[in-house]
Amino acid sequence: MLLFLDTANLDEIKEIAAWGVLGGITTNPSLVVREHQDFKKLVKDICKIVDGPVSAEVTATETEQMLVQGRDIATWAENVVVKCPLTPAGLAATKALSKDGIKVNVTLCFSVNQAILAAQAGATFVSPFVGRLDDINEDGCALVEQIVEVFHIQGFDTNVLAASLRGPQHVTRCALAGADCATMPYKCSSNWSVIRSPIPDCRSSSKIGTQPKHKPWQARARSRRRIRVQNKRQAKNEVFAWLRKVRWNQQKFRAQAGLSSLTAICLSSTMA
Ligand code: G3P
Repeated sequence: MLLFLDTANLDEIKEIAAWGVLGGITTNPSLVVREHQDFKKLVKDICKIVDGPVSAEVTATETEQMLVQGRDIATWAENVVVKCPLTPAGLAATKALSKDGIKVNVTLCFSVNQAILAAQAGATFVSPFVGRLDDINEDGCALVEQIVEVFHIQGFDTNVLAASLRGPQHVTRCALAGADCATMPYKCSSNWSVIRSPIPDCRSSSKIGTQPKHKPWQARARSRRRIRVQNKRQAKNEVFAWLRKVRWNQQKFRAQAGLSSLTAICLSSTMA
């Protein structure tokens, strides 16, 4: 399963690309707007950084306009992929673009049947929206599983691109389901538990260069020492209590029977 980043932010892309595991990028109009940059320039810059497919979405809602935008986008870079919505107009545009050899990512897929439509239209990728389905009390990862299975049974070669992922569990489940690609926001990939340990120790990447005040093994040694001291103190107190009793008995015997010290010690010890 290829790991994609769902962002148009160049800094985020550069950071994750440096890990050497970035398989591609997906963008959408709202992600692009956030960057306050020219769409074409931004997509071209992303395509230069990433050695993999970069999805750039059409904004038109009618087929003809989608085709104009899609054909233009396809010329921006070799690795650019035109993103079309899974609507009747988007399917028609997908069919025409893919006939021309243009790679299309059909987005906003919420059911197996929609995925079948995208595959029949010749899409290179179809993007089921996992997180959005979870939001409405559905199981988004289960949809990915079903699409993968149907595509396998039917022999469709459209790639399943699990989208709208929100956390590491989504990634794992989509990988188990057999998704071809998984796209996730920067926050999700940079917070993967494989990178940052949930144990806040001095080796966590966010704390490199800082040393905790007390190391865990020092705390354990301190607590063992405390227990040893407590046990010793308790044993000493027991001995002192026993000696006090012995002494008290000696005095009592001596006073009562006028015995010698030695006899008093022997007798009182047996009574302690
Ligand atoms: O790639 C799909 C993505 O842009 C939508 O994600 O988290 O807003 O559902 P989300």
